[in-house]
Amino acid sequence: MRLLVNIDHVATLRNARGEGFPDPIEAAKVCEDAGAAGIVFHLRGDRRHIRDDDVQRLKESVSGILNFEMAASEEMIEISLETDPDLITLVPEGREELTTEGGLNMEKVFDDFENRVFPAYKDTRTKISLFVDPNPKDIELSGNLGTDAIELHTGTFANATNKEDQMYELKRLAKAAELAKSFGMTVNAGHGLNLENLPILIENVPYLEDISIGHALISKSVFWGLERTVKEYLKILNK
Ligand code: PXP
Repeated sequence: MRLLVNIDHVATLRNARGEGFPDPIEAAKVCEDAGAAGIVFHLRGDRRHIRDDDVQRLKESVSGILNFEMAASEEMIEISLETDPDLITLVPEGREELTTEGGLNMEKVFDDFENRVFPAYKDTRTKISLFVDPNPKDIELSGNLGTDAIELHTGTFANATNKEDQMYELKRLAKAAELAKSFGMTVNAGHGLNLENLPILIENVPYLEDISIGHALISKSVFWGLERTVKEYLKILNK
C-alpha cells in the first residue's frame, strides 16, 4: 500500500490571501521526503485551488508517483497529455460542489470514455484510474472499458455515523475490491480518510494499493507539521 498525498488544500490556503505561500510544491516535497510515495492534485475547471503553473512545477519537482485528478474535459485532457503524469484519475466535477461528491456514473460516461477519452492516452505511458462508488455495476463497466485502475470512493464509509453503517460500507468496499481485482484492475481508494478510519478500512478491504488522502492530512499538519503527519499515516499503512 502506498500513501499519495493530495496537496490541493495547501493551494486553497495560499489562494485565500493571494500570496505565494504556502507553496503546494514545497508541501509536495516535504511529503515525499517524509516517505509519501507520491502526490495527487486536482486541477479543477474553475482553478479554485491548484493552478496551471502549479501543475508544471509539480511535474518538474515530484520524484514519486504523480496522480493528476481531473474531469474528462477536452481542456484537462490536453493539459494532462502535456504534463505526462504517471496516472490520471477521472472524476465527475460539479461547479457548486465543495469537493468531489460521488463516483463516476459509468453507464452515462462509458461510450464517451471508450470513444473519446481512452484513445487520447493510447500511445502514452499515463495510466488511467476511474473514481467510482463501490457498486458492482460501476466496477464491471470499468472492467469492460479496460481501465488500468479504479479508485474506490470511500466517502460514504468515512461519513458513516454508527458501527452498523460503517460495517455495511466496508462490506461493499471489500466486494467491490474483489470484483475489480477479478478484472485485473489495480484497486486504489480515497475520500474522507483520516487517522481514525484508515486502520479500519485497510483491515477490512483487500487489494488496496494507492491511498489518496488530502483534507484530513493537511488539516492535521496545521498542528503537527506536515512531516510528522505524513509519518503517522505511514505508520498505519506500513503496519
Ligand atoms: N480521491 C479523489 C478522487 C478525490 O476527489 C479526493 C478529494 O479531492 C480525494 C481522493 C481526497 O479526499 P480527502 O480530501 O477527503 O482526503
